[in-house]
Amino acid sequence: MARYEQVHGSVALITLTGPPVNALSAAVRQGITDTVSRALGDPEVKSVVICGQNGVFCGGADIREFAKPTMGGPPLVPMMAAIEEGDKPVVAAIEGVALGGGLELALGCHYRIAHSKARLGLPEVTLGLLPAAGGTQRLPRLIGVAAALDLITTGRHVTAQQALKLGMVDQVAEQNTVEAAIQFAKQVEGKPLLPRKLSLQPTACPPEVDTLLEEAMAQVKRRARGAIAPVACVMAVRAAVTLPYQAGMQKEQELMSTLFRSSQARAMQYCFFAQRAVGRWKLPGGAHSVNTKPRPVTKAAVIGLGTMGRGITVALVKAGIAVVAVETNDKQLQTGKQIVCEMLKREAEKRKETPRLDLVHFTTSLAELKDSDLVIEAVFEDMPLKKQVFKELSSVCRADAFLCSNTSGLDVDELASVTRRPEMVVGMHFFAPAHVMRLLEVVCGRGSSPEAVATAMQLGKRLGKVSVAVGNCSGFVGNRMLKPYLEEANFLLEEGATPELVDAALEEFGFAMGVFRMSDLSGLDVGWRIRKEAGLTGPDVDPRDHPRRRQGRRYSPLPDLVCEQGRLGQKNGRGWYLYDKPGGRVATPDPSIHRFLEDYRLKHAISPRHIDRQEVVERCLFALINEGFRVLDDGIAAGPEDIDMIYVFGYGWPRHRGGPMFYAAMVGLPKVLERLEHYRQAHPDVPHLEPSALLRRLVDSGSPPIDTWRDFLQRPHSQL
Ligand code: COA
Ligand code: ADP
Repeated sequence: MARYEQVHGSVALITLTGPPVNALSAAVRQGITDTVSRALGDPEVKSVVICGQNGVFCGGADIREFAKPTMGGPPLVPMMAAIEEGDKPVVAAIEGVALGGGLELALGCHYRIAHSKARLGLPEVTLGLLPAAGGTQRLPRLIGVAAALDLITTGRHVTAQQALKLGMVDQVAEQNTVEAAIQFAKQVEGKPLLPRKLSLQPTACPPEVDTLLEEAMAQVKRRARGAIAPVACVMAVRAAVTLPYQAGMQKEQELMSTLFRSSQARAMQYCFFAQRAVGRWKLPGGAHSVNTKPRPVTKAAVIGLGTMGRGITVALVKAGIAVVAVETNDKQLQTGKQIVCEMLKREAEKRKETPRLDLVHFTTSLAELKDSDLVIEAVFEDMPLKKQVFKELSSVCRADAFLCSNTSGLDVDELASVTRRPEMVVGMHFFAPAHVMRLLEVVCGRGSSPEAVATAMQLGKRLGKVSVAVGNCSGFVGNRMLKPYLEEANFLLEEGATPELVDAALEEFGFAMGVFRMSDLSGLDVGWRIRKEAGLTGPDVDPRDHPRRRQGRRYSPLPDLVCEQGRLGQKNGRGWYLYDKPGGRVATPDPSIHRFLEDYRLKHAISPRHIDRQEVVERCLFALINEGFRVLDDGIAAGPEDIDMIYVFGYGWPRHRGGPMFYAAMVGLPKVLERLEHYRQAHPDVPHLEPSALLRRLVDSGSPPIDTWRDFLQRPHSQL
């Protein structure tokens, strides 16, 4: 799939034609091989230009082919070698993107011209791989070891201007890139090609190259959280420094074949497609993302300028949306205004832009919302207060304005019930800090209209978020699954673990932060307040209750007792850990927490036992996964991909493990079931360890592949 034309007499123009992004599928590779060979063999052709159709050069290897048993078609390495070895100049005309194999193809060409809006990069590391069509060997020869290490180990994209500065491209075109490339090709016809063949060039090595490579290795190991691809990337670049080209290519292939077969690569490729699949939502009655048009949002409003409201305001302004920001009184308004303005200035500085302070209008009057297209309420997490706000919104806002709540778990239907427009109400659950975190849960209430869901999903996308449509239940998807995870962590402390042991096990698994460090960061009083409201702790608890059982099930009062000691987490410098200062980030284990745990065990006659890291991972994560199966079976999430993306983008689940449901499939469902049964037997008063009905059904059906789990659901999402 490549078109061949002869233009301007001597130039062969080859156009890749593989929609949507001209990925290098077997057919496209065949097309390139055939057309390049034709051009090189035609005596009338003196130069060649390679471009892609529809304004996209090439999105890289065809990721869909990776899962196939055999790839078929010509392999990439000899295809690129044939381009480079030829005796006619080949110019890559890069529009849109040149990513992965696309950039490697361009590196196999002798010259590169990019459109000013084009982006270039080697994102293979984000798919658990490395650029294995010569990318790790040619790029260091072109732009130097340090810059190549940066691009290859992070997978980040660069703009055409940055690429020009780095020496990756020879020219940036403002207008017609293909035409510019054709003119360029004509000019270089007959010029010596040897200096342009990257495989024949030495890698320029600065004197400190060894230190550079060692530091890069130390850095990726620190950041990778157990991912193997970044480490392999550094090893491959090292080969470009220490070995001749062919031997370096051999090393690149060896490293790639290990990565290619790894479960990490499968997990990350699954994430690539899952991230795109979650945008295709479906609702009861058959409405879905394809047949529902979102309404444009040009004027938004945010109610409440606390932590969440400020972040949401900044996210909206960054996307160029005008915001009316409302607070209860002048004092709160001024505080909120000052912080929002500072945040906007900082954000603009980072992007070297002027802050758009003019886009926010601060007020204490709800009457100023009469023009808003969409309102996001972000007041305290308190149902009566939120209902009051929704009632007022319902009367002051335009009849066609969408009313959204940033609740993290309250009943969206109950909020909708106090308005005169339940169909215009949806949940928009942002994650703190809202202008940074990529996840948005869009909560569909019973009455939410398809248009309201489509508008909230589209708005999330505009804000740069991964938006996932979820059903309405306590905690929605993310926080509902977090509950058993947190409870298991507390039970482990009772039984003999320390916060640092539990955290170390979870961080070794790949979480950015263990459960106790995460709780300290979020603030321990948040959960405390929720438990008080639920009657699980505080003065309303029946004193005759078993101290470690509430509402008929095992309950750990440890987090409540910690709060009662005034330890609220990072914000006041003391939580499960001790911090360098209030708000400080340096956590150290606290001997007084150890003593507190020992006293607690003595008081309750618990003899501490040795708990290993495997038990921590199984108890915490299998409990969370088990709840994930319930979430699916209850129709709260449409499919395992939705849950996995929520955890990867909102809760620090390591991408190289694909998300909780993918991880369960990798571990093997029978093993997950067996371990849950084992722990349930050991802890009969912990109902969340009871294996879910869906997990049992899947195991009984021979543990089918994850993409068929939807067929086993009791209440599919679309039938809620
Ligand atoms: N192989 C196979 N399919 C690909 C692909 C690839 N390399 N790149 C994109 N696609 C598919 C997507 O899955 C999506 O399919 P869908 O519409 O069925 O969901 C479609 O092309 C459009 O991609 P999308 O990401 O939604 O469009 P975009 O315009 O936002 O971004 C890219 C385009 C190319 C920047 C982006 O898709 C991307 O980063 N692709 C991967 C690049 C990469 O990692 N290449 C190295 C491969 S080893
Ligand atoms: P969160 O951490 O969820 O953002 P905060 O407690 O930080 O919650 O902030 C909630 C904010 O909402 C506070 O600044 C409070 O003044 C504001 N607020 C509460 N009620 C109203 C209301 N009726 N209208 C506007 N703002 C409100």
